[in-house]
Amino acid sequence: MVRNEVDGGVAVLTLSNPPVNALGADLRAALDRALAEAIADATVRAIVIAAEGKVFVAGADISEFGKVRRRPLLPEVLARIDASPKPVVAAIGGAALGGGLELALACHARIAGRHAKLGLPEIKIGIIPGAGGTQRLPRLIGPETAFAMMLSGEPVGADRGAELGIVDAVVLGDLVPAARVRALELADAGRLPRAGDRDDRLDPEARAAFEARAADAVTREPDAPNVRALAEAVRACFDRPFAEGLAAEQAAFAPLVDDPRARALRHAFFAEREAARVPGLSKDTPRRPIETAAVIGAGTMGGGIAMCFANAGIPVTVIETEEAPLQRGLERVRGLYAGSAKRGSITEAERDARIGRITGAVGLENAGSADIVIEAAFEEMGVKRAIFSELDRIAKHGAILATNTSYLDVDAIAAVTGRPQDVLGMHFFSPANVMRLVEVVRAEKTAPEVLATALDLGKRLKKLPVAVGVCFGFVGNRILERRSRAAERLLLEGALPHEVDAAVTAFGFRMGPFAMSDLAGLDIGWRSRKDFGGRAPVADALAEMGRFGQKTGRGFFVYPDGARAGQRDPEVEALIARTAAEHGIAQRSFTPEEIVARLMYPMVNEGARILSEKIASRPGDIDTIWINGYNWPAWRGGPMHWADTVGLKTVAADLERFARETGDDSQEPAPLLKKLAEEGGSFGALKAA
Ligand code: 3HC
Repeated sequence: MVRNEVDGGVAVLTLSNPPVNALGADLRAALDRALAEAIADATVRAIVIAAEGKVFVAGADISEFGKVRRRPLLPEVLARIDASPKPVVAAIGGAALGGGLELALACHARIAGRHAKLGLPEIKIGIIPGAGGTQRLPRLIGPETAFAMMLSGEPVGADRGAELGIVDAVVLGDLVPAARVRALELADAGRLPRAGDRDDRLDPEARAAFEARAADAVTREPDAPNVRALAEAVRACFDRPFAEGLAAEQAAFAPLVDDPRARALRHAFFAEREAARVPGLSKDTPRRPIETAAVIGAGTMGGGIAMCFANAGIPVTVIETEEAPLQRGLERVRGLYAGSAKRGSITEAERDARIGRITGAVGLENAGSADIVIEAAFEEMGVKRAIFSELDRIAKHGAILATNTSYLDVDAIAAVTGRPQDVLGMHFFSPANVMRLVEVVRAEKTAPEVLATALDLGKRLKKLPVAVGVCFGFVGNRILERRSRAAERLLLEGALPHEVDAAVTAFGFRMGPFAMSDLAGLDIGWRSRKDFGGRAPVADALAEMGRFGQKTGRGFFVYPDGARAGQRDPEVEALIARTAAEHGIAQRSFTPEEIVARLMYPMVNEGARILSEKIASRPGDIDTIWINGYNWPAWRGGPMHWADTVGLKTVAADLERFARETGDDSQEPAPLLKKLAEEGGSFGALKAA
């Protein structure tokens, strides 16, 4: 795991633990041994730590968290570097994240390659740096900047790292030889620079700026224990000597690892990666080359999808039926790019290059040469079928034909073509150029290579593709529909819209279901219920009154003078009471906990049905979809993980009670949920379908 090559007085220790050189117990032990050997070796004057592969070191092995920790722990290995009389230099070729950067920070110098990335992302998995990062980084780059970096968890590139002082130099040529030179210079100089010695960086002025940032961070996330712990650990830099600061960091770090939020975030981390493993596909499944694309429809969705291709460097033709909507769509896309360039998130040259990759055209025949066609036209089966039968005639042999439908039956769409093996769904979320999630819908006849190509393409577009099966609404919207129904039912039983929304935002969503409806427009659900059936007496009555939500200034809430936050409306509350009376439903009040259970348990129940029907391969896929497409709070791990934390016995028993109380059989626990509840099982323990 660690190759030790001594040459010309320098021991080069090369770490190798594919795929990302995570510092698991075996690697820690091997590194510790190699360091001890090199320090003891009289022929060695200096040491370089390098790594094999694209990533330098991705940090601690996250899969070890929550288990018994095997020694040596990372801080113990780093203490050996601190005590070393010989200089140790890190040669950082790729990402040095978390414990990986902490390893480098403990070294006496850091040389980075051009592709290095430097970051302490621990905050994103619910913890804080636990191997000296909170003590060394502030002493290198100043406490305020260091705190900001650890709070965002975002890495910086090599050049920025050099500007900040995280790395000593960036080399364009061979990294290890440069690190060797630096290591020998340090050996000659005799004095070893240690980040832990730089107390001069901690002047009182720096403290004031840090304290302001820390107070702000804690106010913004009062319930996140790791934000508070991060602030405390960095504060220790000012109040205590380095060694005591390290101990303070350990004291703050250790309990966070077992915090339920951290467990949920780790689940989300691994679930997201596991989603890439789709049953029936392997790396040997053939892929089709995708070099050009066509998008049918220049609406908000079509334009957003076209931008994804342009951003990824793939030329794309946007196709409309007429010139006017095409030009409107292209204009909107140009406007979005202009905005990005103005904000500085892309350069002007990049803006022009991206716009240049998008061509507009009128008429489906322009899709003839595309390797993939994504249809983002009107959400109506007749329209989609007409387009696909045309595409069948026009598209070149082997082209992938994808529909962006959110609800419709992809098998029925594929059936109008003579090549159903080439057809699948790619359900993007709005705004498509921003949202990472894409549900990749595998239809009955979709060929494995077509599915594999679409999933790979999703990654190329910098998306998070998750494979799902065909059903109404696929995974995400099918579960959403359950929540909408439950929310409407709660109104009839006496919960008020603002109470429901408050319970949902307190749970961790950015928005409640009614504010969401008002934002999306009540007319959308109203029309879709007309087309597909389903009843929502309150929402329908509001839509019939022309209360379409924010865009009309009135929906479930009122928005006087264009206000963004809705206000209660007595008219709506009276309408709800009247509707409940008409339906003979007695009204009562609900606690926030009851509201959460009444909304979320039916979602979990639907998730269980989705698993039994094999629409999703595993519970983690459902969690990944809800976290990334529907703003489920990541620190609650997604609906299925959350249900495990509540306890499936409780969830199943409550659902049985809801079914009894509401007379709604669909609330009965699904067979899978019931079985797991009876066996004392959990979704987390289920294997992939
Ligand atoms: N521990 C365990 N496994 C890890 C890991 C880690 N730190 N980082 C990545 N992996 C695994 C992934 O699960 C995945 O496994 P799989 O192939 O079996 O699904 C594989 O490595 C490849 O990972 P990605 O798919 O994410 O590969 P990318 O090339 O897209 O990204 C990366 C590489 C940028 C390094 C990304 O993996 C990443 O961000 N990793 C996590 C970094 C992190 O959070 N580090 C902090 C850890 S906590 C810590 O260090 C505590 C310390 O302070 C004591």
